[in-house]
Amino acid sequence: GPKPMDVSTTPHEIFSADVTVLEGHSSEVFACAWSPAGSLLASGSGDSTARIWTIPDGPCGSIQSSPASGHVLKHFKGRTNEKSKDVTTLDWNGEGTLLATGSYDGQARIWSRDGELKQTLFKHKGPIFSLKWNRKGDFLLSGSVDKTAIVWDTKTWECKQQFEFHSAPTLDVDWRNNNSFATCSTDNMIYVCKIGDPRPVKTFSGHQSEVNAIKWDPTGSLLASCSDDWTAKIWSVKQDKCVYDFKEHTKEIYTIRWSPTGPGTNNPNQQLLLASASFDSSIKLWEVEKGHLLYSLAGHRY
Ligand SMILES: *[C@@H]1O[C@H](CO)[C@@H](O)[C@H](O)[C@H]1NC(C)=O
Repeated sequence: GPKPMDVSTTPHEIFSADVTVLEGHSSEVFACAWSPAGSLLASGSGDSTARIWTIPDGPCGSIQSSPASGHVLKHFKGRTNEKSKDVTTLDWNGEGTLLATGSYDGQARIWSRDGELKQTLFKHKGPIFSLKWNRKGDFLLSGSVDKTAIVWDTKTWECKQQFEFHSAPTLDVDWRNNNSFATCSTDNMIYVCKIGDPRPVKTFSGHQSEVNAIKWDPTGSLLASCSDDWTAKIWSVKQDKCVYDFKEHTKEIYTIRWSPTGPGTNNPNQQLLLASASFDSSIKLWEVEKGHLLYSLAGHRY
């Protein structure tokens, strides 16, 4: 087939006149997420706050200042910001009615879309780096530097089950379906876990360094992972060794995304692709059916 092209000449540049700037955070912003119900954007920052922004319809190009255009979700009591309460991760539930935030203080917090604190979930003994609702909305999953992952029952807000399989910090978690999920860690391992099961239902070993992120494909049959070992890998629960090992990046890979295409999606006739982003400053697109590199996007300079 054709050689993977460097398509560095064709990125679409967005000019500042077409950008809305959201001002208010006083420290770095770690995460942001659109509400599935629309027009609300949540952001989490090192200033110990999360913010919910109301983004009006119509063209971009304005400056919006918080708190005037939304809500400030304070992760501290009193006046001073504490570094220990960095908001590292956040996720909306499927209806867009509740926002979960994970913090460096090891607590998960549940907020209404109006910015009201509904619950504080204590049990982790270290920072939370990943937090996800399942599709059904009956469980919330958190992964922590304390090495464990916890499934929270969202009716009672009690810990349904704590999973203690990793030997080092859990960096990412991802639901496979409503009852099962995967976790990855700085211990180079990936575990597939099921609620009610005291042991991992599958162990994926093969990465030579920290596994930074994992994502199930749209049908929950393939798991993609990326690592500080410069590789992205694709796994299937039907086999122990990875299905594909993508080795073309020349530095650490810190995040990956599946395309919303292929069987079981709204675009069933378009092929399924995986995108990976690396400290080598390239984005690579992988054709999953054939297991090879399709494009290398080299427009970024750093
Ligand atoms: C999860 O639960 C939701 C709501 O009950 C359902 O629509 C969805 O199909 C379930 N997902 C899977 C993968 O079973």
